[in-house]
Amino acid sequence: MAHRNLVILTGAGISAESGVPTFRADDGLWMGHRIEDVATPEAFARDPVLVQDFYNQRRRQLPTVHPNAAHRAIADLAARWRGDFLLVTQNVDDLHDRAHAVTPPAHGFDLIHMHGELLKAHCTRTGQVCDWPGDLAPDQPSPHHPQGRLRPHIVWFGEMPLHMDRIEAALAACDLFVAIGTSGAVWPAAGFVQLARRAGAHTVELNLEPSQVTDLFDEVRHGPATAVVPAFFSSLT
Ligand code: OAD
Repeated sequence: MAHRNLVILTGAGISAESGVPTFRADDGLWMGHRIEDVATPEAFARDPVLVQDFYNQRRRQLPTVHPNAAHRAIADLAARWRGDFLLVTQNVDDLHDRAHAVTPPAHGFDLIHMHGELLKAHCTRTGQVCDWPGDLAPDQPSPHHPQGRLRPHIVWFGEMPLHMDRIEAALAACDLFVAIGTSGAVWPAAGFVQLARRAGAHTVELNLEPSQVTDLFDEVRHGPATAVVPAFFSSLT
């Protein structure tokens, strides 16, 4: 069956084989921290040193990791896809961006980082976003407002994911939805499969193991992303 309107959702599992750790390890900790100690607005207000340092470490790791065969397979697909193609990632790394920079996408493609980007910061007063490749100081002054500070451009727990209107519009119009490397534990992303089903789309899960919402997919392929993603997309035109 030929599909025209594609939405792909990716999560931490697609970057795992590049060496970026996933979130939900067996010990329930995220790189040795409880999520509420580093990934909430309250944590930033309470301990900006800890929170900025946590994201500074994640940002410093980026030059040491590289897109893998799964990121490249999506970029190859985006280069040959004839139709609308929205890639929504929950990942704050820049591995999709780098893969698409090497293989530029066809017209109709867009990439949304719904949980923000490590390589950007935003002003606590105005919300203005700027590129930020280096470390952020605990009290980093904002260039946008005299009383503002810069914080990581990351959606923390309790905050609204980015560009939800565009994502929901694409899901309402898609005929193929593919979720890759995501546990289905965090909303609203975990609910995207239901929105795609409502639109009548064919839904596919590509993940190492069954996700928490695996029963909602029409088709499920389990295995490492670098194997299952290129294999699945090689059959799509
Ligand atoms: P998780 O860490 O919750 O889940 C990663 C998923 O990837 C799991 O289902 C793994 O089985 C799977 N996986 C691991 N290695 C894989 C591999 N090599 N190939 C394929 N799949 C693999 O990560 P997310 O679902 O992305 O939010 O987490 C969602 C959000 O929770 C994150 O964006 C983050 C976190 O809190 C924010 O920071 C706002």
